[in-house]
Amino acid sequence: MADALASTLDGLTLDGARHRYSKIYDRVPIESVLATAEKDAIGRTIVVGGWVKTGREAERGALLFLAVNDGSGPGNLQVVVKSETYAELGELKTTGTSVVIEGELRAPPESAKGQAIEMHATRVLMVGKCDGATYPIAKKKQTLEFLREKIHLRPRTNTIASVARVRSALAYATHTFFNQNGFLYVHTPCVTQSDCEGAGEMFQVTTLLSEAEKPEALEATVKPEEIEAKRAEVSACGGEIKSMKESGADSKEVKKAVKTLDKLKQELSQMESAARKIGGIQRAEDGSIDYSRDFFGGKSYLTVSGQLQVETYACALSNVYTFGPTFRAENSNTTRHLAEFWMIEPELAFADLNDDMQCAEDYVRFCCNYLLENCYGDLEFFAKMYDSTCIDRVKEIATTPFGRVSYTEAIDLLEKAVADGKEFVYPVSWGIDLATEHERWLAEEHFKKPVIVYNYPKDIKAFYMRLNDDNKTVAAMDVLVPKVGELIGGSQREERLDVLERRMVECDLVPEEYSWYLDLRRYGTVTHAGFGLGFERLILLCTGMENIRDVIPYPRWPNNCIS
Ligand code: 4AD
Ligand code: MG
Repeated sequence: MADALASTLDGLTLDGARHRYSKIYDRVPIESVLATAEKDAIGRTIVVGGWVKTGREAERGALLFLAVNDGSGPGNLQVVVKSETYAELGELKTTGTSVVIEGELRAPPESAKGQAIEMHATRVLMVGKCDGATYPIAKKKQTLEFLREKIHLRPRTNTIASVARVRSALAYATHTFFNQNGFLYVHTPCVTQSDCEGAGEMFQVTTLLSEAEKPEALEATVKPEEIEAKRAEVSACGGEIKSMKESGADSKEVKKAVKTLDKLKQELSQMESAARKIGGIQRAEDGSIDYSRDFFGGKSYLTVSGQLQVETYACALSNVYTFGPTFRAENSNTTRHLAEFWMIEPELAFADLNDDMQCAEDYVRFCCNYLLENCYGDLEFFAKMYDSTCIDRVKEIATTPFGRVSYTEAIDLLEKAVADGKEFVYPVSWGIDLATEHERWLAEEHFKKPVIVYNYPKDIKAFYMRLNDDNKTVAAMDVLVPKVGELIGGSQREERLDVLERRMVECDLVPEEYSWYLDLRRYGTVTHAGFGLGFERLILLCTGMENIRDVIPYPRWPNNCIS
């Protein structure tokens, strides 16, 4: 059918709208069919391919109305199939069936409101059957919780498909923004030996455990009597050498015996160290796990942030950014935390906290504008199904400058609110780490828009943030937004070697372990700043979805790592 369709359709598809890399059926994306003006579309014969959303038989089985979607947009194309065109209308109508259909585009009858165009099938290919009785998502409305368990099929739903399109658009917008503003894209590593945030939330990367599970690892334990025997051999050999020397034996013979002794000593040390294996894992002399035997020759982790590494590129190439997965083993079962999430981290050279805040604001607003221009249909879907304020919020963020307030002023505002009767679960006082409820009050109720809080107390922030002259606060900034709370965390970096070393010690870090990071301050240090935006939180902000687990294809959280 493929070849036949392609040849008969030559020149008939909507201009420029064919799938360039999906040629076997020469199909046209449904989104472009729906976006084509009626006068240009009506009367043309084209091919579409997709999955049946719903099927409804009419005129006692002589006619079938299909809603077909191919993922190119939120809209379905209504296709009318006659039983003369396809005999088994019953098998075609099941939700989930994959189809390729050739048909003529026509204006729908007056009665079909809200629909600009429909297709009358001339040929139908049923590509893949779908058994409605067992298809897990056959029912129209499934809860998001249920869909998380059917993770591999949930992209078939309208919600997850819209999320996927918005996610892709925001990733594209991100690269576009930084590219247009002269930032270089740098790939930072997923595996590292440095803890950037110092919060002790790192997943360890090791092969020691899988090695320990091998039968030979457990069998290899050396018995104490074997070690004793080897010790006796060493001592006997030593005694022999002593008496050889005393009796003036040939030096060649002595040398040979010394060689033997060295070998025996080496064997003994290997046996002693092997005996220090517990459960198949090698221990050092002090009893701690011997990580020099691990894959990377030292204790290694999945990264919590690419910042430290991306700083090394900023301090050589000026403005750069990284955009990749990051991992946190924090046991937070919230709607805003994932164990694996994506972060965008720009780093600006010859820049201070003000530049940093401006860049963060411009970037978020650029993303909102991009969605309004490129994903309006999906935003309408979210506004209709999940959050009626979603489009207004995205528009407002795109057009209104963010609020700015120092941490000290923010605490004053929160304390005033408490005095006026506002109740928070967590008490407010200078020095606290703001809780989500405080952050959301500031953004949602006080400023009623995104707000940047800057100059936080040093004791609640990471070691690398630049110490302010008051010695109490650091040049940090968080962007707080409605619906979400913290969207971005960033700071100007401490560029003074002595101050940075002091801060590391204060934060219980060992400066020697970060000597490569300190080198940036030793050799041509520069004022620089950066931030990290949690990509899934940006999607929550723009879509109004409530749970972060629904805006990443494969969410990972404690006890959940499906597929
Ligand atoms: O504030 P954070 O911890 O900052 C950093 O990691 C810095 N090194 C960034 C930098 O300056 N280059 O994390 C940044 C953002 C947060 O504001 C939040 O949006 C998101 O990452 N985030 C999470 N998102 C989902 N799940 C989690 N567990 C998250 N933890 C942080
Ligand atoms: Mg933070």
